[in-house]
Amino acid sequence: MKKDKKLIAPSILSADFSNLSKQIRYIEIGGADWIHCDIMDGKFVPNLTFGPLVVKSLKRISNLPLDVHLMIERPENLIDDFISAGADFITVHQEAVVHLHRVINYIKSKNVSAGVSINPSTPLCLVENILEYVDMILIMSVNPGFGGQNFIDSSIKKIETLSEMRETKGLDFYIQVDGGISRTNIKTISNAGCNVFVAGSSIFTSDNISASTAELKNIVN
Ligand code: DX5
Ligand code: ZN
Repeated sequence: MKKDKKLIAPSILSADFSNLSKQIRYIEIGGADWIHCDIMDGKFVPNLTFGPLVVKSLKRISNLPLDVHLMIERPENLIDDFISAGADFITVHQEAVVHLHRVINYIKSKNVSAGVSINPSTPLCLVENILEYVDMILIMSVNPGFGGQNFIDSSIKKIETLSEMRETKGLDFYIQVDGGISRTNIKTISNAGCNVFVAGSSIFTSDNISASTAELKNIVN
């Protein structure tokens, strides 16, 4: 069951892009489960990162599932491009989509897993009616746009509430948490009900990328 899993998804936002294939090898050695790809358009969030071309190159160099987090306006316009590039998960922001149910169903119709993300200020009630359709809910524990920020502590209550909602409704989707996760708080986040842990700076800016990946994985499993 998805809800029983404890997976590590390093975010390459903090990786050394001049040595990306080596950096991917390091997280693979450390036991990473997915590769988290932060796509930013400079409009939905105040930062600009990369697009389908980088996702396509990652598909060539790794067998790890590609977890594409779309922090962009009108994500429906680029879903096909990221699917063609090899995305295994596509997560859109509730705040960026007018017809969320339609977009989720479209992603799933292409045999790609569909996720919905909510920002720290967005209440869970805004995704309650689509919980039965998604493969994953991503709770942002920082304001999206940058790595290296501090974990927003009120996220813990949000994770616990979502986990309770999942149980009460008899559903099975991943709860993913993204932002400010490190060895000091990952156990608390796991106990709250998180299944997929996105960590960027605590992995890629550490002295040993493989060891820090393995350490996070050992703490939650
Ligand atoms: C922020 C991104 C996160 C970020 C996590 O907008 O969605 O994935 O890269 O980075 P850390 O772990 O450094 O907070
Ligand atoms: Zn992310």
